[in-house]
Amino acid sequence: MAIDPGQKYSVVDTIRQSPPLDLSTPVDDAWVKDKTILITGGASGFGEGFFRRWAAGGATVVIGDITVERGDKLVRDVARETGNKNLHFLHCDVTDWQSQVDFFKAAVKISPHKGIDCVVANAGKIDTKGTFENPRDLDSLTPPTPAFGVLDVNLKGAMYTTHLALFWLPRNPSSIAASPTSDPVNTKRDRHLLFISSLAGIGPIPGQTEYTASKHALVGLYRSLRATTFRHGVRINMLCPSHIATPLQTAPLRMLLAGGSMGECDDVVEAATRFVASPQIVGRALLVGPKMSVESDSDGHWSWSDKQTGEERAMMEIFAHDWEETETSQRRVIRALNKVVEIKGWTGWFVDVLKAIRLKRKENVTKFVPCLSEYKV
Ligand SMILES: NC(=O)c1ccc[n+]([C@@H]2O[C@H](COP(=O)([O-])OP(=O)(O)OC[C@H]3O[C@@H](n4cnc5c(N)ncnc54)[C@H](O)[C@@H]3O)[C@@H](O)[C@H]2O)c1
Repeated sequence: MAIDPGQKYSVVDTIRQSPPLDLSTPVDDAWVKDKTILITGGASGFGEGFFRRWAAGGATVVIGDITVERGDKLVRDVARETGNKNLHFLHCDVTDWQSQVDFFKAAVKISPHKGIDCVVANAGKIDTKGTFENPRDLDSLTPPTPAFGVLDVNLKGAMYTTHLALFWLPRNPSSIAASPTSDPVNTKRDRHLLFISSLAGIGPIPGQTEYTASKHALVGLYRSLRATTFRHGVRINMLCPSHIATPLQTAPLRMLLAGGSMGECDDVVEAATRFVASPQIVGRALLVGPKMSVESDSDGHWSWSDKQTGEERAMMEIFAHDWEETETSQRRVIRALNKVVEIKGWTGWFVDVLKAIRLKRKENVTKFVPCLSEYKV
């Protein structure tokens, strides 16, 4: 479908969604410098990759994870390698609300400008036991409640992270509402939420039912939220990696995908850096996988191709057209929300400032509860 923001059914302008990505333009890492970025599940795999790249780019990066020893060591090693003094590890269990509350509060406290520019909801796990599809002991007097550990981390954890991000990002000092017209060079402060869903968010993975359900849910969360986070001036983007070689992938799966079906962690990091470093990218989603031939249609939309087209790419846009052709009810809700934002205008800004001052006062009188482990160089 052709992009026509002027068309009757499109709310692309109203929700401030940015135009299709030009993936041929290089990413400028300099734009992450001095940003404060939080990564959940940052001690391994993608999180570790993001951490290393943005730490090298001069950002303040705070990772929260349950693997304390690994996270602590990672931060120490990268701090030594890069000379960046603003790298931190904090214990954070995303399934525990209070743990995430403490994580965000501690991050704001250690952030040089006392605010958060970007939150990456990355923590995740797969079902290694297949318990969901293999009910046991149902003939016992008290059949055990099934454990939904994967949903707890991948969905509930990401929803806690989102809720806290929607609280803290608009309070980022000196930040202004995210917009497709933001100039990356002059946008010092940001309000960005990045979701890490999966190929399992857009299609099934046999044997990973609970994981697939959790990642589909995350896609739903993203598709809905990106129509409304403009109210907070927050931009939201999403990555859906396919199978990528990280510790998450089990040995049997790695064997199954050997010979080119596994993507590279570096491509996921590159895609995330494009989002994080570009404040003008709002409401877009990228699928990242092994490099494959691509071709574009007459509307300029790219897709994977069986033909040898001469151009190979590891990433491609998905779900970008949700809000180009909408139903009446959707348009009415979005336009009403937009009117509220317009009316709120300066009054809303004034109220937000008052809230921020009140929060600061409250924090000064409340004893600060630090997370379990914190490392600062
Ligand atoms: N590797 C892939 O092929 C792939 C593909 C698509 C999506 N993903 C998603 O990418 C994200 C990162 O995965 P990865 O491949 O880097 O895996 P990984 O196992 O290397 O990293 C996941 C991190 O999350 C942390 N974590 C798990 N439970 C947590 C909790 N309760 N609280 C805080 N941290 C917790 C782990 O300790 C680990 O450091 C996950 O959301 C995953 O579902 C991975």
